[in-house]
Amino acid sequence: MKNIKLINFLTAMLLLLVIAMSGCKNKCNNGENYRFEDNAIVFNAPQRVEGQTSMLEFAAEPLPVVRIGFIGLGMRGPDAVYRMTFIDGVEVVALCDLLPENVEKVQKEILEAKGLPRAAEYVGETAYKQLCERDDIDLVYICTNWQTHVPMAVYAMQHGKHVAVEVPAATSVEDCWKLVDVSEQTRKHCMMLENCTYDFFEMTALNMAKQGMFGEVIHGEGAYIHNLEPYWHEYQGNWRLDFNQKHSGDVYATHGLGPICQVLDIHRGDRMEYLVSMSTPSYNGKKIAKEMMGTDEFANGDMTTTMIETHNGKTILIEHNVYTYRPYNRLYQLTGTEGFANKYPIEGFTLMDKNLPEGFLAEGQHLNVHGFVPKDVREKIMKEYTHPIAKDIEELAKKVGGHGGMDFIMDYRLIYCLQNGLPLDEDVYDAAEWSCIGELSAASIENHGMPVKMPDFTRGDWNKVTGYKHAMK
Ligand SMILES: NC(=O)c1ccc[n+]([C@@H]2O[C@H](COP(=O)([O-])OP(=O)(O)OC[C@H]3O[C@@H](n4cnc5c(N)ncnc54)[C@H](O)[C@@H]3O)[C@@H](O)[C@H]2O)c1
Repeated sequence: MKNIKLINFLTAMLLLLVIAMSGCKNKCNNGENYRFEDNAIVFNAPQRVEGQTSMLEFAAEPLPVVRIGFIGLGMRGPDAVYRMTFIDGVEVVALCDLLPENVEKVQKEILEAKGLPRAAEYVGETAYKQLCERDDIDLVYICTNWQTHVPMAVYAMQHGKHVAVEVPAATSVEDCWKLVDVSEQTRKHCMMLENCTYDFFEMTALNMAKQGMFGEVIHGEGAYIHNLEPYWHEYQGNWRLDFNQKHSGDVYATHGLGPICQVLDIHRGDRMEYLVSMSTPSYNGKKIAKEMMGTDEFANGDMTTTMIETHNGKTILIEHNVYTYRPYNRLYQLTGTEGFANKYPIEGFTLMDKNLPEGFLAEGQHLNVHGFVPKDVREKIMKEYTHPIAKDIEELAKKVGGHGGMDFIMDYRLIYCLQNGLPLDEDVYDAAEWSCIGELSAASIENHGMPVKMPDFTRGDWNKVTGYKHAMK
């Protein structure tokens, strides 16, 4: 009798276990920051707290003079200080780095060399806090390692400063939400410095796309393919290899993704909804890590490929490879129903006669829709379809430089928008959407290419703005 009771009890428990496990198929928390729901990975998303409102199309009070504090003066930071010295109505108020020699170099070689006053100095791991606490700074410009971006940006916004932060703005979904929430709570801009959206070919193609020259753009491709072998030893404290050693996924997606998202009006009429990602094992990454870190473990695959599907059914392909021997490549490719644009390795357009203005082509000239437009037509397009925001500034941008001038246009636009009280070209939702690819793609890879639902950082407002545009006064 006792045995029968025990058997019944065990059977009931087994049944409960089976029910619980079958429920897990559709909805199951894996105990981390995401769960499995309807055959997809879904990351946790915080609620918007009361009193916190959207930053879509946010414009701050105009700042005739923009006073800047820079944090991080390694390879990237000093060039930003240099570029800003060419823009009227900018003051370099403070400089901060871990190393005093980096600060001194910028004081001497950039500020003093241009006859500008020396800036206030902050040195050490937490010295950035004192910089952020000053009351004579409007914008904190962050060029440090990825791991420090979020605490610095959050501290700066909480101390009343707008933020410009290098790419990627954050390395986890949770931190992307943090940037969104703090920006919404403090009403301060948080712009990620995605410079590739300002490159000349990308801007011209964006301008053409907005004028319908490719028909409906249905697919875009972007990448960061850049062998970093010559640079691995240069990052302060080995932060970059250290990060890649610990993280799989497309950890540097923003250069490839940003320009495509602007063409596809992401969170301005469409939104990225799902991604799937796959990666090769690590071969070359592992070798470098063995040499530099003495480890046999390396999480980041040599070649990572991610596909994204948007709400409106468009597709995006993004690649990441910083390890193998290939020519530098950001792809930048647009496929439209009536045309095509391609930047790497050959710059070209495929267009239909009917989408060019009358008289644009020579008498009797017709375009071949199975090939690129001829050189003379491409050159004429690049001239006549230069994006309006690049037109006035192109010459100075090429003189000042920064990846051929795109970095200068980015800084120029940031200051122009702040001085004129306009929404910035890249808002905090762009920063979050483009940066979250790192952790989302890692989750997909770790689950054999399982779809991952992309967070909606606008919390339902992705359809409220129609079409991507740059604000002008
Ligand atoms: N947009 C682009 O084209 C581009 C190009 C290169 C680098 N970047 C980005 O710029 C950032 C910096 O990269 P990098 O190549 O200059 O790296 P780096 O290692 O050369 O420089 C980082 C600097 O930050 C400083 N730093 C670190 N912690 C700090 C702290 N707590 N307080 C103050 N300073 C601190 C370091 O001392 C170092 O000088 C990264 O986010 C990178 O992805 C972007």
